[in-house]
Amino acid sequence: MKTKKSSRTRKPLAEISRTSGDPLTQQIVPAREVILRPAGYPLEVNSVPTNPLLRIRDEKLFSAYAVDQWQGIKVKPADYLFDQLLLPDFAFEVVSVIPTEAHIVADTRIRLVEPPDDTPSKALQIGFEDVIGHEDAKAKCLIIQKYIADPQQFAEWAPRRVLFYGPPGTGKTMLARALAWETQTEFAYIKATSLIGQHVGAGADKVNKLFEDVIRNKPCIVFIDEIDSIGLDRGFQSVRGDVTEVVNSLISQFDLIEDQEGVVVIAATNSQDFLDPALRSRFEEEIYFGLPDYEDRLQILQKYSSSLPMPVDADLESLARRTEGYSGRDLKDRVLKGALHHALSRGLATLDESTFKHVEIIQTSKDKSLYK
Ligand SMILES: Nc1ncnc2c1ncn2[C@@H]1O[C@H](COP(=O)(O)OP(=O)(O)OP(=O)(O)O)[C@@H](O)[C@H]1O
Ligand SMILES: [Mg+2]
Repeated sequence: MKTKKSSRTRKPLAEISRTSGDPLTQQIVPAREVILRPAGYPLEVNSVPTNPLLRIRDEKLFSAYAVDQWQGIKVKPADYLFDQLLLPDFAFEVVSVIPTEAHIVADTRIRLVEPPDDTPSKALQIGFEDVIGHEDAKAKCLIIQKYIADPQQFAEWAPRRVLFYGPPGTGKTMLARALAWETQTEFAYIKATSLIGQHVGAGADKVNKLFEDVIRNKPCIVFIDEIDSIGLDRGFQSVRGDVTEVVNSLISQFDLIEDQEGVVVIAATNSQDFLDPALRSRFEEEIYFGLPDYEDRLQILQKYSSSLPMPVDADLESLARRTEGYSGRDLKDRVLKGALHHALSRGLATLDESTFKHVEIIQTSKDKSLYK
């Protein structure tokens, strides 16, 4: 039998005002709108993370479902409501309430927003040595690693904000993940587009909330991927909708973390020249990620072919010479994976020259000069 006070226990409003102390101070303030965000279960069982992905099928129906179980409860931002129906004890965090502290009543509109995909989490297990080339970027990452290990020694000379730029598929995201793994620190991965809000003020709120979380979890590396998607020069922003508030909030948060030891921001973009100049000037260093040269292409081909589920019987040096202009991603996904799939479809037991030739014929018929 449940003994805890369940949020399911719905009380008639009149009863609430009767039973909760002084009736004069317990006026019912009906909430017009309550916004919730999935917060997960309070416990992990046997280290198994339990985070179901929730998606709303019908907003009106969800609102009715939520009102049905939480009607009569007084809520304010940062409170938690526990589901007792479909997902017993799954928590929802109250993001906002209109007015700020109010009771859920029959006609309260309850909405669900997505959980931040920026929750700091341990990164995948990729080390610096897995990233081929990019020695300058790795040197900077080693400095950041030292800084995270002992933030005080750097004082005002700490590495703070770095911009990785260069063509797609050259290892920018991969190196940021490697840094997080090597430093064993919290890593907040944010796709810049996820910071765009649906209404005025929501984008700025998301940025502020993100940095609050980051500061709470410091030391922490924040990686803002595809920052050009929001940080475009103001001249271009009309093309993408108004993201000025997001850019302004980012700029002010970038300045605020100046006082926070152990917080480092890395951002990545394919087109640094179009970035908002005020945003761009906040980066202390811009590090270029170029396409791999012959040596690096060879190493990338060797690295990934060793983990293919089929032996390779082809001249990788020759293949590296023939793939000028290909990124690391192209080499892995287009060349090696393409050859593997071709071999599988033909029932071959090895990846021989013919499988790579087949992929090359397809590649040359596409625009190989795309990244040049
Ligand atoms: N230098 C490299 N060394 C090893 N693997 C690489 C390298 N560059 C790319 N790869 C492979 O390609 C994948 C994609 O690279 P990544 O996502 O880091 O590129 P990116 O520069 O962030 O691209 P984008 O600008 O499109 O976001 C990596 O996960 C890795 O498998
Ligand atoms: Mg990337």
